Amino acid sequence: MEVSMLNQIPSFPEGWYFVTSRKNLLEKKLIRKIWMGEEIIVWCNDAGDVCVADAFCPHLGADLGPESGGRVRNGRLVCPFHGFEFEPGGSCVSTPFAPPPKTAKLKLYDMWEMNGMIFAWWGINGRPPQWNLPEHQKSKGDWTDLAFETIRFPGHPQETTENSVDLAHLRYVHGFENVKRMEPLKIDGHYLRSHFELARFQNVGGLKIQLNVCAKAEIYGLGVSNVTIHERSIDMHIKFYMFTTPVDGKYVDVVLATQVRQLRKPKRAIIGMGFLPVSFRTSLMNRLVLFFHKKEVMDDVFIWQNKRYATQPRLSKSDGEIGRYRRYCRQFYPS
Ligand code: FES
Ligand SMILES: [Fe+2]
Repeated sequence: MEVSMLNQIPSFPEGWYFVTSRKNLLEKKLIRKIWMGEEIIVWCNDAGDVCVADAFCPHLGADLGPESGGRVRNGRLVCPFHGFEFEPGGSCVSTPFAPPPKTAKLKLYDMWEMNGMIFAWWGINGRPPQWNLPEHQKSKGDWTDLAFETIRFPGHPQETTENSVDLAHLRYVHGFENVKRMEPLKIDGHYLRSHFELARFQNVGGLKIQLNVCAKAEIYGLGVSNVTIHERSIDMHIKFYMFTTPVDGKYVDVVLATQVRQLRKPKRAIIGMGFLPVSFRTSLMNRLVLFFHKKEVMDDVFIWQNKRYATQPRLSKSDGEIGRYRRYCRQFYPS
């Protein structure tokens, strides 16, 4: 098991990790990336069936990525070397000069789609999924599309996810006041829920307003965090997703995605936006929310990228439940 020098914990905790959004995949059809120390491809056919697989052809090992000549043609992935064709289930269904060998199969990763986002399972020693992500929740039409940002830096998903139980840093790094837990930390197998409230004065478009935030962080393993926010002074509902995916044992990609519910009657005037159609205004709000969210996360990144994993943290009374969180994390490193 590769152990990150930076963190002294295994670099790749078991779990589900973000691969791409469906929207991005439909645009590009074939994507190649380094994910969990593996070189993988993601592709889809016209019917939208998605395949996540090892990036190398089972025939003679050609790279199937688009930069190396791999492509999707008539709903099949075509290898650039000898033209073997694969269907989304991974089987070779045709070759140019002979019947397809039955054993020629892409090495597949289990995938899961949630709210237009595609995840794949990374198991210790290749073991199959040990749990599932939540079922696809259809947003009822009054939510914006997701907006995405990716930040790459040296880090670890356990460290980034620890944020949601580290209530003291919300005060010290992010300047929130009145941070209080609303219910005991809930842990059920791979699932963890941290529910808290906080407040802060914030400058929004030149106006100083007090933000009163109710936040419910739901963690589905160390790669998938989903924070549901209700901001009471504007009456805004926001979904924040944070997906941390190890790239190569040193770097992680933190993907931030946000979604805002339509604001028909905001409690406060939204500077300069009142005249805009509701859906356009909400999309613009979502962009702003993502901008501020990224700014906030960059304050964490500044710490994360330079920190060292403290195996025996010396905790104080204001630290919340970091000890319980650390015990929760152990399940993702089965030996
Ligand atoms: S290596 Fe892919 S078809 Fe030969
Ligand atoms: Fe933070």
